[in-house]
Amino acid sequence: MRLGFLGSGNMASALARGIGEPVLCYDPVAERARALAEETGGEAVPDGRTLAERADVVVLGHKPGQLEDAAREAGAAKAVVSILGGVGTEALRAAYPGRPVVRLMPNTPAGVGKGVIAVAVEPGGVPADEREVREGVLALLCRCAEVVELPEAQMAAATAVFGVLPAYVSLFAEATVDAAVRHGMSPQDAGRMVAAGIEGSAALLAAQGHDTLAVRRGVTSPGGSTARGLRALDRGGLREAVQDAFDAVVDAS
Ligand SMILES: NC(=O)c1ccc[n+]([C@@H]2O[C@H](COP(=O)([O-])OP(=O)(O)OC[C@H]3O[C@@H](n4cnc5c(N)ncnc54)[C@H](OP(=O)(O)O)[C@@H]3O)[C@@H](O)[C@H]2O)c1
Repeated sequence: MRLGFLGSGNMASALARGIGEPVLCYDPVAERARALAEETGGEAVPDGRTLAERADVVVLGHKPGQLEDAAREAGAAKAVVSILGGVGTEALRAAYPGRPVVRLMPNTPAGVGKGVIAVAVEPGGVPADEREVREGVLALLCRCAEVVELPEAQMAAATAVFGVLPAYVSLFAEATVDAAVRHGMSPQDAGRMVAAGIEGSAALLAAQGHDTLAVRRGVTSPGGSTARGLRALDRGGLREAVQDAFDAVVDAS
């Protein structure tokens, strides 16, 4: 299955990198497409029309608001995979009538083989004539991500759960490094330790069946330093800020 990436920006490149196949790619910024083609051993093509003609599946990697313009160019696509935030399967079908459509919500860790990808399932299920393309696409996505099929109605929440998460975790890491530097640590040492600490904490959560309370209790002795730190985070409004952020992302999606 030859994939063609229509748009070679951040998310499209991460996905292509994670899948690890030579891909066709196009981007109005030619340098981006050239870089992605070089990295995957694939080929940059001069326009969306050529991409659509040559690819078995076109992956929409442009911005959501560019759907109609892009579809005018890539209308010859045989099948379409979309990573566009907030664009429903129905709108994708309207832009690419009669073609199999698979709607995804990926995240950027796919680029290092550790992504999460939600695949939308419409209320009526997957149309029989789309199953083969969908299965082929899912087999490729499994190479770089935990793939979860979700009802279409939950795709906005999926965006808020993990689509934006690399940005949140990076913000938390950055704030921790800032604090560590204030206490005399080098940013390099602090950065390495924060990243390893986040990775270890995620592994522990998985090993303990995603029981967040058990993991927290394992670190928090009564009246100890973790308890004081958690209280400071509560006082700072962390939980409320997370709820607000979740709602803001769902609204935008
Ligand atoms: N970044 C993420 O973490 C993430 C996660 C999940 C989903 N997504 C979705 O992924 C999509 C891309 O996001 P991104 O963050 O990767 O954006 P990005 O880095 O800006 O990449 C989008 C690329 O598409 C190009 N483009 C514009 N019009 C095009 C057209 N007609 N045909 C082909 N390419 C075109 C853009 O060029 P110009 O700069 O010249 O416009 C740009 O290079 C969005 O729809 C977003 O909702 C992103």
